[in-house]
Amino acid sequence: MDVCLSSEQQPGHLGKGPSSPDGWLETKEEETLQKDDTSGSPGDFNEKPSLHSLQKFVPTNYASYTQEYYLFAGKRIVIQESIESYGAVVWPGATALCQYLEEHPEELNLQDAKILEIGAGPGLVSIVASILGAQVTATDMPDVLGNLQYNLLKNTLNCTAHLPEVKELVWGEGLEQNFPKSTFYYDYILASDVVYHHYFLDKLLSTMVYLCQPGTVMLWANKFRFSTDYEFLDKFKQVFDTTFLAEFPESSVKIFKGTLKWD
Ligand SMILES: C[S@@+](CC[C@H](N)C(=O)[O-])C[C@H]1O[C@@H](n2cnc3c(N)ncnc32)[C@H](O)[C@@H]1O
Repeated sequence: MDVCLSSEQQPGHLGKGPSSPDGWLETKEEETLQKDDTSGSPGDFNEKPSLHSLQKFVPTNYASYTQEYYLFAGKRIVIQESIESYGAVVWPGATALCQYLEEHPEELNLQDAKILEIGAGPGLVSIVASILGAQVTATDMPDVLGNLQYNLLKNTLNCTAHLPEVKELVWGEGLEQNFPKSTFYYDYILASDVVYHHYFLDKLLSTMVYLCQPGTVMLWANKFRFSTDYEFLDKFKQVFDTTFLAEFPESSVKIFKGTLKWD
C-alpha cells in the first residue's frame, strides 16, 4: 500500500491549508487509519512507524499552519510549516542542498548511506535524502520534533527503502550519551541554514566536529548574509578540509563539503 498522499488526499489541497492540526487527516486517510491497528505510545520516536504515528506526531502548539509543496528527486513533497518557529519553515539553504543532492546522487553514493541531519527543521533535506535511498536520522531541538516527524512520515512512509528516524540533538549537549562514537557512524552529516544570528555557534561547530569520524563527509549549505556567517566559515575551515561545492546566486546560498582534519 502506497501511503504517500496524492495531491487530492493532501490536506490543504487547492491551496487552502487547515487552520488547526485537526484538519490534517482527511477522509480517505482517516479511513485507512481505521484499518491500521498498530499501536504505540505517543511521543516514542523509536516505535514501529504506522499511519497512526501521523496522528500522534501532529505538532505542537502552533496557532496556524500552512503547506508548501516541493518537487525533488521526482517526488512531490508537502511540508507542513508554521511561521511561529525558525525550525518550522523551510529555509533557502535547504532547497539548495536538496537540489545539490538530487543532481549528484551517484557521485555522493547516497544509496544506503548513513546520514544525520542537524537542525533539520521541517525536514525537507532529510526527506529528499531518504527518497534518494539514504538511511537518515533527522535531528533538532525538542520543540520542533513533532512537526519534523509528521513531515517525514507523511512523505516517506512506504515510499523509501529506509524510513527516516527522528532524534533530539541539541548542539553541544549529551553527545557522548546519545550518539556514542562506537555505535553511531555516519557517512554524511548534513546541515542547512544552521548558521545565522544565534548564540550557539561554538556549540554548533563542536557538534559538527564530534559527529564526524574518519570517512564522514560534512555537507553544509548556508545563506550568507552577515559578517558572522563568514567568521563561522573561517572557523569551519580551521577544523575541516573544506571544498566549495556550489553557489546559488539568486539566494546567496553556498554549499561546502568538509572532512575533519586529522593531525
Ligand atoms: C534556520 S532553521 C533551518 C531549518 C532547516 N535546516 C532548513 O534549512 O530549512 C535552524 C534550525 O536549527 C535548529 N537549532 C537552532 N539552535 C539549535 C540548537 N542549539 N540545537 C539544535 N538545533 C538548533 C532550529 O530548531 C532550526 O530547526
